[in-house]
Amino acid sequence: MSKKFSLPRGTSDILPFEMPSWQFIESKARDILKFYNYKEFRTPVFEETGLFKRSLGQTSDVVNKQLLELASDKEDTLSLRPEGTAAIVRSYIENSLDRKEAISKLFYIGPMFRGERPQKGRLRQFHQIGVEALGVATSSPYLDSEVMALSVNILKSFGLNNFQLKINTLGAPEDKEEFSKQLRSELKSSVDELCADCQQRFERNVFRILDCKNRGCKRVVAGLSIGDSYLSAESKVYYEDVKKALRSLNVDFVEDSNLVRGLDYYTHTVFEISDSSLGSQDALGAGGRYNNLVSQLGGAEVDAVGFALGMERILLAMPKEQILAEDTLDIYIVNMDEQAFMEGFRLLNVFRGESLSADMSYKISSMKSQMRAANKSKAKYVVILGEEELKNGEATVKNMASSEQERIPLQMVGKALKERLNSIN
Ligand code: HAM
Repeated sequence: MSKKFSLPRGTSDILPFEMPSWQFIESKARDILKFYNYKEFRTPVFEETGLFKRSLGQTSDVVNKQLLELASDKEDTLSLRPEGTAAIVRSYIENSLDRKEAISKLFYIGPMFRGERPQKGRLRQFHQIGVEALGVATSSPYLDSEVMALSVNILKSFGLNNFQLKINTLGAPEDKEEFSKQLRSELKSSVDELCADCQQRFERNVFRILDCKNRGCKRVVAGLSIGDSYLSAESKVYYEDVKKALRSLNVDFVEDSNLVRGLDYYTHTVFEISDSSLGSQDALGAGGRYNNLVSQLGGAEVDAVGFALGMERILLAMPKEQILAEDTLDIYIVNMDEQAFMEGFRLLNVFRGESLSADMSYKISSMKSQMRAANKSKAKYVVILGEEELKNGEATVKNMASSEQERIPLQMVGKALKERLNSIN
């Protein structure tokens, strides 16, 4: 017996009946992104491994544990992209976009790959709708708040409203450095109480201790008294302006001083949108400002801010009534005999030429089985061709919703159905 292959763990097939909901969220997101003047951008699904190490940080979980490397005999290996920001920055630099525009407002929709232990809402191949604004003209707290409002508005357009926007600031790079110093000095005496992962994080990536879900670590974190003492006066003003701008846009938010994000490139504003109905993997999306990444990767001194939404999690959280019914067909043709079959085959082409969707059975089969297929296709109209119809140069046209039938001359049936369908659609 030959081997049966199955879906790789942590991935999913998106079957035709599931596509309308994917198309729904993609098209809603595209509409809203257009209102905010963002342009679509596509980069390859793999990049040099070093790009991810340099951007996301050697010590981040995504690089350390989850990069899916492609085999290579060269020094620089390639890896499937775990997220979209690094590649956008690589391309922004390579195409000198900073010299072409003061602000590049870009978005992408596509698959990302992380070698994670799969569970509900956590996949090895998942899809993101990502947004990045880069350029000299992006250093404004108003853009931070607008980007957050944009992510909230996209989620609302899907019918979601049970989510919470959490925000925090890491400050400028020097503030972030100070933050990590203060954290280490406060945590030093409690290292033994931290989980094994966090004991390692203490040395390598101390911020991640703040959002560890382990109960013991949470207890230690609750006892910290750092507040915002690591922030410079300037960074404090910047953060206050971000909040003021959010309020002016009527965006609800909560401040969460433990929100630090898992990727190294963030500075100043960071945010996450969570939906408690999702269980442990509750982040619908997240993002923030990354002012140093472009220059760190060899580009100009320009600032940037962005976010990404996880499409699978959006679909899990979306109200069921928002999930649309499968696309339906305009016309199904039923042929009674061989002569009618040839006429039906010709008519298929006529209908498609009128921009109508049409289908039929490609084998001559019984009237009963063709009618069954017509019903299953949920076609709005069925066109029946039999001996009598052909003798008179006509087709019987049945409106499947009302069951009304009429005879229409064959030369006019394309245009006639176009008119009738236009008035329904
Ligand atoms: P991230 O927080 O790693 O950020 O991912 C953003 C969103 O992608 C998550 O909130 C979640 O909805 C979804 N996601 C992440 N990993 C998985 C997974 N394994 N399975 C299913 N969904 C997942 C970033 O990727 C940053 N690049 C966001 C950003 C853009 N920051 C600035 N610009």
